[in-house]
Amino acid sequence: MSSKKTGLWMIGACGGVGTTATLGLAALARGLTSGTSLVTELDLFAPLGLIEPGQFVVGGHEIRASRFRQTAQEMHERAGVFSRNVLVGTDDLLASWEENIRPGTVIGSGPAIERLAETGAVRTAATGREAVEFIKADLLEFKKKHDLDEIVFIHVASTEPPIPLEAEHEDDAKFAKALEKSAVGPTTIPSSTLYATAAIELGCPYVNFTPSLGASIPVLERLAKAKGVPLAGKDGKTGETLMKTVLAPMFSRRNWKILSWVGHNIFGNRDGVVLDDPRHKASKVGTKDQVVSGIVGYKPQTLVSIEYIQSLDDWKTAWDHIHFEGFLGTKMILQFIWQGCDSLLAAPLVIDLARLILDAKGRGQSGIQSQFASFFKHPEGSKEHDFFRQWNILEEHVAELTAQSGAGK
Ligand SMILES: NC(=O)c1ccc[n+]([C@@H]2O[C@H](COP(=O)([O-])OP(=O)(O)OC[C@H]3O[C@@H](n4cnc5c(N)ncnc54)[C@H](O)[C@@H]3O)[C@@H](O)[C@H]2O)c1
Repeated sequence: MSSKKTGLWMIGACGGVGTTATLGLAALARGLTSGTSLVTELDLFAPLGLIEPGQFVVGGHEIRASRFRQTAQEMHERAGVFSRNVLVGTDDLLASWEENIRPGTVIGSGPAIERLAETGAVRTAATGREAVEFIKADLLEFKKKHDLDEIVFIHVASTEPPIPLEAEHEDDAKFAKALEKSAVGPTTIPSSTLYATAAIELGCPYVNFTPSLGASIPVLERLAKAKGVPLAGKDGKTGETLMKTVLAPMFSRRNWKILSWVGHNIFGNRDGVVLDDPRHKASKVGTKDQVVSGIVGYKPQTLVSIEYIQSLDDWKTAWDHIHFEGFLGTKMILQFIWQGCDSLLAAPLVIDLARLILDAKGRGQSGIQSQFASFFKHPEGSKEHDFFRQWNILEEHVAELTAQSGAGK
């Protein structure tokens, strides 16, 4: 187990996922909950000696005035999640971590995120570079205040609209120039990428849990390698898409032909409010829609719909209808209904990824860490979507690390 003092810095810290991860860390630190649903608590990972979840100090950027305790209370009242015992038993820790929240930037974040931003909770900057510098200053202040050895950086902010790759994402000099442009008006460098730039320039291991652009550009991937920064992303695979990547291999291995796969998602949390705007929704549909063809090797007709239904709050229902062809051309149907609590599915994976990316940094690994593909809808550095194959890759990786540490003893 690491004895280092480590910060967990989240972008969008006081949203549903950020707050649930924070509450979970506090509850684990206080011994108020077990490690159920933390992948890294499986025996497989024990030889790695990962940081204990209770060792993290939490901070982050937000653009709304709400803080951990308010969001947790709202989720408790509206979605019926979190026990009173956990809320009361972690209150003082959450209060102290709330002091580490700083106003974020919404440069290039898209209209639905700009609507979320609250006066006094957002910092303006004349250029992207100016925003990168204040983000770095906030991180350095956090590091100094808590005497941290390392900061893990996780992006859990609302989903931005998609941004196509341009020359400034490929070329270092053009990227530097684009950062110096006025931040008013359209930009090819959204806030997720400004945050990622700051993290990588400071050498912080980085995870993008959202479909936003973040560090997924050649300039930052190269910089991460040069700075010894491990990267992982993107878009956490938590519910319906996880089911798709578990079921699609079955169709492949029985040589059944998938004719169409319709996935209809309804939910009512703040993520849903943002995704209700078609410009933002396009990013999410993009990461959800490519997994089936990535597994079966052909493109069945697919439809992914995501609708905001306020009364459901954080409880997501996904209804999937899979039409497939069996022997002698007989058409059959599989349907499933997934009812999951979105933030409770996502938060443990955020904690897992924080532990794993920190471990990767400690082992001198840099650039995209494709061995973590099983955690993501759109795994960076890997074309593998089959959950079981992704899991084998992770297992083999951990076995290799375990063997290396055994050999080093
Ligand atoms: N199961 C899941 O919940 C799940 C799975 C995969 C991916 N995700 C992604 O995780 C992200 C968070 O989901 P959520 O349910 O917590 O949403 P949320 O709306 O509850 O939280 C997002 C938070 O980000 C903040 N924010 C937005 N833009 C910001 C910026 N530029 N700087 C700083 N803060 C900013 C918002 O104010 C909000 O508090 C979304 O992008 C979502 O798509 C969630």
